[in-house]
Amino acid sequence: MRVLVIGSGGREHALVWKLKQSPKVKEIFCIPGNGGTASIANSADIKVDDIDGLCDFALKEKIDLTVVGPEIPLVAGLVDHFEEKGLKVFGPSKAAAQLEGSKVFAKEFMQRREIPTADFKSFEDINEAKAYLKDKIFPVVIKADGLAAGKGVIICKDLEEGNNALDQIMGEKVFQEAGNKVIVEDCLVGEEASILAISDGNQFIILDSSQDHKRIFDDDMGPNTGGMGAYSPAPVITKELLVTIALNIVAPTIEGMKHEGAPFKGVLYAGVMVTKDGPKVLEFNVRFGDPETQVILPRLQGDLADIFLAACDKKLNDVQLTWDKRSCVCVIMSSRGYPGPYEKGKIIEGITLVEGEDVVFHAGTKKDDGNVVTSAGRVLGVTSLGDGIEDAIKKVYIAVEKIQFDGCFFRRDIGAKALKRKQEVSVS
Ligand code: AMP
Ligand code: GLY
Repeated sequence: MRVLVIGSGGREHALVWKLKQSPKVKEIFCIPGNGGTASIANSADIKVDDIDGLCDFALKEKIDLTVVGPEIPLVAGLVDHFEEKGLKVFGPSKAAAQLEGSKVFAKEFMQRREIPTADFKSFEDINEAKAYLKDKIFPVVIKADGLAAGKGVIICKDLEEGNNALDQIMGEKVFQEAGNKVIVEDCLVGEEASILAISDGNQFIILDSSQDHKRIFDDDMGPNTGGMGAYSPAPVITKELLVTIALNIVAPTIEGMKHEGAPFKGVLYAGVMVTKDGPKVLEFNVRFGDPETQVILPRLQGDLADIFLAACDKKLNDVQLTWDKRSCVCVIMSSRGYPGPYEKGKIIEGITLVEGEDVVFHAGTKKDDGNVVTSAGRVLGVTSLGDGIEDAIKKVYIAVEKIQFDGCFFRRDIGAKALKRKQEVSVS
């Protein structure tokens, strides 16, 4: 089988790494790819939003299965376009991708389907939104409707911050047309986790839990990033809670999308807040998480290509997932300055010193004159399996210390929340 993975992050490196383990996969392409995928997959210089270019490539190369990493091509309708040309592709249609492409769509959908989420109101008019804020109890969360590269959510602690957020999003249009509408919603309190499910539009299978670390600094301080590290499983999600999430969140979403004429095929990612009133949806994504994928796939046993094919062929009923019982931790090594401005082109040393079951997933890297150099904010995702979270944390930081580049920055507390929870449980 000839497989194409679209994207260039750590998530895509992990997807290629796992798909390569399938005896079915004879040839694999990762477009545009990065310095890590370049060693294990073919690449081509086509942008992820060049849907015609990607489709022509897939036809020319007789690709049997395409897997889409990022949200932008999904929301732009890549899957519809590929399927019109008879190509098999794992990912949701443009209509189903609205769950991530429009927060107003997602929130109204959840309201219609009685899926637990924060109370909200949506606005197209900045003055109406400001008038509504006057009577709100703060903090409130203000969200741009459309895609904003993970930056479109602002938690406002008072009216002044709320008005500023509205001015930026709707007035100055800092996220362009993504800010034509906004959501104003209640601020939820609890611990977050990422729940991913694979669906064929009809059935779904839920993956084991994980937790991202969105803030740049230790103890969840500083601005939001794409994700500075992750671990799986997330002990905040007990077996019972996973069943509750499957029943109260994932099942009505898959059922509802089918009912509304936009069946969801692909990965449904629910960002969940575990509140004292139970799990509530913070957001939906319509793709694998990054860096959640880097900690889920090393624990997933079995053939990922078979799972994707079953989803495309509406045969998920036949699939049973099994998991490595060990814990997996991924630490993102980033360029100093990220998520603000940072330097690129720094030579990375020591990657080959990381061996055995530890894996270095590349994100913002490229090959340059025989070297691997930095090319983006998130550079590498160093990933280790361990017998329990404590062992995985210890191993991953030993591996991280082997790698160097000028201006390298990483969090030192990835997995600490899981460890604390474990220690609390063993004391009580
Ligand atoms: P989103 O892109 O919607 O996941 O939002 C990014 C981050 O903002 C989430 O991971 C949460 O940390 C935070 N967030 C979003 N919505 C809420 C909410 N209603 N209450 C509290 N935090 C939120
Ligand atoms: N890790 C957050 C995301 O993939 O959106």
